[in-house]
Amino acid sequence: MIECKNLTKRYMTGDIETVALKGVTFTIEEGEFVAIMGPSGSGKSTLMHILGCLDSPTSGTYFLDNHDVSKLSDDGLADIRNKKIGFVFQAFNLLPRASVMRNVTLPLIYAGVPEAERIHKATESLNGAAFPEKFWYHMPNQLSGGMIQRVAIARALVNNPSLILADEPTGNLDSKTGDMVIETFQRLNSQGHTIVLITHEPDVAQHAARMIHIKDGSILTDAPVKNRRIIHKTLHHES
Ligand SMILES: Nc1ncnc2c1ncn2[C@@H]1O[C@H](COP(=O)(O)OP(=O)(O)O)[C@@H](O)[C@H]1O
Ligand SMILES: [Mg+2]
Repeated sequence: MIECKNLTKRYMTGDIETVALKGVTFTIEEGEFVAIMGPSGSGKSTLMHILGCLDSPTSGTYFLDNHDVSKLSDDGLADIRNKKIGFVFQAFNLLPRASVMRNVTLPLIYAGVPEAERIHKATESLNGAAFPEKFWYHMPNQLSGGMIQRVAIARALVNNPSLILADEPTGNLDSKTGDMVIETFQRLNSQGHTIVLITHEPDVAQHAARMIHIKDGSILTDAPVKNRRIIHKTLHHES
């Protein structure tokens, strides 16, 4: 599903060049749950922006669902992104003056989906993100951090994306709330969604099935997670 070969990314700030990715090669199959782990400044967000079709590599190739997206224009990238990728970011970038329902249906409004279908799809993804019905018409400032992150997950799901990309999705949460968010990702993965989770926390990465460890823009290790932490089954009984 994802095939990256020798990806590099250079940034120029004035005369200063930063090489954020130094030739990164890996593949991710449909249905995998992969954590990309590394310290701050290692190139995680740069890689996520390329995987998410938010930016292009300086060199190398990136195939997403057999499309070569490494050489697309910004418009071409936007098109692929809207169809195939759901994002969950650390900063809960919801619209503050819009209800939960409106935040979740927004990507569908942009895509021109009729209202009845929008509500139907939003309902499905809010349920998929285990977001309680009684809060569907609440405003973001009436919700806890964990609930807001569930809205962000529901919004990421609403286009039925082939890939869910999460950049430090538990970064602003206490560990119990973070666990509930991870539980949701594990359940979505067990339902067939492909998930790439970016984190600097080894504890969080431990919930994925495979870990790619990057440092200074290169892959150090890429292996199945040993003693993987599974939480979605136990939490499932409570809901
Ligand atoms: N837009 C940018 N312009 C210049 N340098 C950047 C830019 N984005 C990231 N960098 C640099 O690239 C390196 C990797 O950054 P980043 O991908 O954000 O790492 P991480 O997400 O792992 O913290 C860092 O040295 C960072 O300062
Ligand atoms: Mg980052």
